[in-house]
Amino acid sequence: MKALLIAGGFGTRLRPLTFTRPKHLLPIANRPHLHHVFDLLQRHGIDEVVLLTSYLAETFEASVAHGRERGMRVEVTHEEHPLGTAGALKNAQGFIGDETFFAFNGDVLTDSDLQAMLAFHREREAEATILLTPVDDPSAYGVVPTNGSGRVQGFIEKPPPDQAPTNLINAGVYIMEPSVLDRIPEGVEYSAERALFPDLVEEGARLFATGTDAYWMDIGTPAKYLQANMDALTGAFQTDAVGDPGEGAVVAAEGVSVAEGCRLSAVCLGPGTRVETGAHVERSVLLAEAVVERGARVVNSILGKGTRIEAGVSIEGETLADETRVGG
Ligand code: GDD
Ligand code: MG
Repeated sequence: MKALLIAGGFGTRLRPLTFTRPKHLLPIANRPHLHHVFDLLQRHGIDEVVLLTSYLAETFEASVAHGRERGMRVEVTHEEHPLGTAGALKNAQGFIGDETFFAFNGDVLTDSDLQAMLAFHREREAEATILLTPVDDPSAYGVVPTNGSGRVQGFIEKPPPDQAPTNLINAGVYIMEPSVLDRIPEGVEYSAERALFPDLVEEGARLFATGTDAYWMDIGTPAKYLQANMDALTGAFQTDAVGDPGEGAVVAAEGVSVAEGCRLSAVCLGPGTRVETGAHVERSVLLAEAVVERGARVVNSILGKGTRIEAGVSIEGETLADETRVGG
């Protein structure tokens, strides 16, 4: 089976980190987010993927090679101008024969049971099935009310706060029959959430949804990206990228240097990062080559590639662009 990974958005909410890379390539526990998606797919026996790219498309090259090295078939489509979430799927129609396929929002980190979802889809003889997950504040998501058998009753993208009919939201994981692609106009921007799904509901098509209580996170904001890393460190999200998960766990990539007398708790240290004597780093992600100098303090922060926090400086709750220098 094939999975289409929708990965061409600008990642604006994750700026400045996404000025230089798409969010899909940001590391979770030192492994590019996209590779965690590959992990999930392969665990469920899906080893053909099509990456639907647009913004910074060329930066996916290494991950395409990585996917092929691990035995997956990886194809790439490109939208010169982003076509929207449904337009992106339409653009990949050439790769889909007459087979049922998966589609994913490429920024979703989850370990949900894809085979159980597929069984549900087949039992209902659905034309499309949407995975649902519960959240505290549905207003940031697509809200999907269903009836007793799981038939979708409506699709309300980002409703005003307190107006959502349910806290079950679109988890950004879909199973579709190829016929769905025939409903999407070609070569124009078209949204799955604001056009395709509401139209399917309107027409009375066999659109179903099924819930999961598995781990699920959309990594699309700094707070959620940081949380996804913390969840990998504690083991709330299970991944073999973390050898010994638990409260305060630390992962270190190659070429990391940590001086004696540092305090490190719940930290991802990217390749070539350096933490100097007496520094305190907690609940943070350091991208490649970031440096925390002597006695500096970094809490709840994401440090872009090559960032330098100078000696004695304290930062908290920051998301810093690549090559930022924070002085005293
Ligand atoms: N190829 C392509 N082209 N990809 C796109 C485009 C496009 O024009 N626009 C967005 N994407 C990609 C993004 O890069 C991301 O991987 C995915 O599509 C979803 O876009 P987001 O911008 O992250 O959407 P969202 O998080 O606000 O909302 C979506 O996800 C929620 C779950 O995380 C919606 O699908 C909601 O309904 C859903 O609840
Ligand atoms: Mg998102």
